[in-house]
Amino acid sequence: MPYAHITGWGTAVPERILTNDDLSKIVETNDQWIRERTGIAERRIASEDDSVSSMAVEASVKALQVANLAPTDLDLIICSTSTPEYLFPATACLIQDKLGATKAGAFDLLAACTGFIYAVNMAAQAIRSGSIRSALVIGSETLSRFVDWNDRKTCILFGDGAGALVLQASPQPGGVLSAVMRSDGSGSDLLTLPAGGSHMPATEETVKRGQHYIHMDGNEVFRFATRVMAQATREVVEGAGLKMEEVRWIVPHQANLRIIQAAARGLKLPMEQFVVNVDRYGNTSTASIPLALVEAVEKGQITPGDKLVMVGFGGGLTWGALAAEWTGPLPAEKIVHPERYKYRARIRSILRRLWRLIEGIIWGREV
Ligand code: COA
Repeated sequence: MPYAHITGWGTAVPERILTNDDLSKIVETNDQWIRERTGIAERRIASEDDSVSSMAVEASVKALQVANLAPTDLDLIICSTSTPEYLFPATACLIQDKLGATKAGAFDLLAACTGFIYAVNMAAQAIRSGSIRSALVIGSETLSRFVDWNDRKTCILFGDGAGALVLQASPQPGGVLSAVMRSDGSGSDLLTLPAGGSHMPATEETVKRGQHYIHMDGNEVFRFATRVMAQATREVVEGAGLKMEEVRWIVPHQANLRIIQAAARGLKLPMEQFVVNVDRYGNTSTASIPLALVEAVEKGQITPGDKLVMVGFGGGLTWGALAAEWTGPLPAEKIVHPERYKYRARIRSILRRLWRLIEGIIWGREV
């Protein structure tokens, strides 16, 4: 049975930085309150030109470059997002087209902020089963477009960004070791975007009532998060057959520094073992774990052989954890240039659309 290794990684964030002081000009808040209650100092906000797929493609090309894998060698693309570009088609299909991943299946996965853990586990299990050899897993969000900028209880928390990992099969032991995936739908109303789905299609009234924005019971979510983080970490470490002492890094969902500190206390681990960048990006939902993970790898903190745990929680309610042994890129025979496929893909996509148009005209004439 092959092992599923993480062989490539990349991130992309919008250029625009929104500081706490900037926010204090929009709602009644201040830098001190936000820092003390959340640990957040600033976050990135998507411009009109940024989208879930554009950031995902930028992160994915970097991940494919690290893995030295051509997009055409990808078997599967999973985009984890709570802010898809459309209800359908899946944003993963837009990414597939822009990358030129012509042989990959593509779908979106929605498990709110826990989505990245679910998605990596799904890709790893597909590789472990032998049904695919490689997968691209992306977490990408433009939460700023669903935030009520008049609600100081939520607008201070969220930010935009994307992270991507390439997973590949190898007979070498290591890679994804175990995973825990949990949910509790009885808490579905605690963190929700009420309108715009089939339950409550968007109308003038829903827009007037602000039901197309994120609604959250912050205190309840806080309590839930502090309860599940340590518990899921312990479970996944045990599932991997490891002892807690063997785990070098914990990469938690970056929602609130106080939640991460509570998890550290619960696990009796020093904060130095926790990767934290919530101060600079805020809560980027399903992008937060890859944003933190990749930063730690690029800083040289996470190195081959390290055992690590990614752990998250979010709307649903959902929570989960994933244990992995870090490996890095597989040995390669030749250098590929994943970025070059983007231009070919663009031309192919335009030609396909043109061809459909011509076919439509021909068929129209015949009818
Ligand atoms: N600036 C200044 N004051 C604020 C504020 C802001 N941005 N937001 C709320 N307040 C005020 C409240 O109105 C309240 O005032 P009151 O006591 O006069 O009523 C006071 O601060 C305390 O509010 P409270 O909601 O109890 O604060 P808190 O310490 O629980 O922090 C959160 C609020 C949202 C930061 C915290 O509950 C949290 O992080 N929850 C988890 C959210 C989360 O992680 N969600 C994503 C999950 S993936």
